[in-house]
Amino acid sequence: MTSTDTTASHTFTIRRPDDWHLHLRDGVMLEAVVADSARQFGRAIIMPNLTPPVTTAAQAEAYKLRIEAALAKAGVEEGAFTPLMTLYLTDNTPADEIARAADSGIVHGVKLYPAGATTNSDAGVTDLLGKCAGALEAMQKLGMPLLVHGEVNDPTVDVFDREAVFIERVMIPLRQRYPELKVVFEHLTTRDGVEYVRQAEGPIAATITPQHLLYNRNALFVGGIRPHWYCLPVLKRETHRQALLEAATSGNKRFFLGTDSAPHTRGSKEQSCGCAGCYTAFHAIGLYATAFETAGRLDALEAFASKNGPEFYGLPINEGTLTLQRSPTRIPDEVPVGDTTIVPLAAGEELRWQVVQSA
Ligand code: NCD
Ligand code: ZN
Repeated sequence: MTSTDTTASHTFTIRRPDDWHLHLRDGVMLEAVVADSARQFGRAIIMPNLTPPVTTAAQAEAYKLRIEAALAKAGVEEGAFTPLMTLYLTDNTPADEIARAADSGIVHGVKLYPAGATTNSDAGVTDLLGKCAGALEAMQKLGMPLLVHGEVNDPTVDVFDREAVFIERVMIPLRQRYPELKVVFEHLTTRDGVEYVRQAEGPIAATITPQHLLYNRNALFVGGIRPHWYCLPVLKRETHRQALLEAATSGNKRFFLGTDSAPHTRGSKEQSCGCAGCYTAFHAIGLYATAFETAGRLDALEAFASKNGPEFYGLPINEGTLTLQRSPTRIPDEVPVGDTTIVPLAAGEELRWQVVQSA
């Protein structure tokens, strides 16, 4: 990181970062959001929870072409942003499909959604160790990472405890059975998760979102119910936020950036049963910089955002750079999508950090 500090402004430059957990959607939504990510990130792991989900290497190839077409339409220079594709694991994913995905060169992970745990997860896995042995063995053998939505979907388990219970019921047995399987514990939200990832043996890492670094669950209820702060896994207590911020800024290579930016139209969030997901791609790196600054650890942002992720995935770090400046601006109330809008996280509030240059 190079840094200049003057009384008028503060800027710093990091290697171009990547987003290791991103929902881009499809169609009009994809066209509306993709340039926001490309402005800041060199690559992103693209989540496969479309309807229907991306379950085959051929579907991932076709989706990648649609993303590239949307990038071109948005005026993003060719090669400036690389989508790293994923498959959606089902009870029926054959080992052959994992082999095809590995051979494709474009699929970099397979996503586990416990059935019913979150948005578009109906086709998800009902019994990981019982039904997915063939796929898991192939992934372990081929070095294909398993990207885990780490929450049980058991209605008798309190929603705030679902990550901790998942560690005991699924994560520990999974990693005992497949000790060489590369696992990313996605969007970590608890102190329990941080402790598990820190002390576990073998190839494990975790992504952390900006909202879980910046907010605790009080943010959902300030002055009334605030649907634009609602995502899954849901925001937790302050003690968990502190543990996440400490992990992200610690320099530990197992923790890296994954926004989980999950755009939904304003109407689908502001209703009697609003969708889960925060739109953070618009201002992601500024949100992370704000969180790191509050911990006094802006110097640790580059490892978290630009180095630890590629190292885990076995990819080179990006050549380019991104320069951020401390110059507060107002987050817009909404971003247009076709004839509707998306409300970004913390809309209307001040954002301290801006991208001023990308090279
Ligand atoms: C995601 C979405 O909308 O696709 N929502 C969310 O709250 N994070 C799904 C997910 O990653 O859980
Ligand atoms: Zn997600």
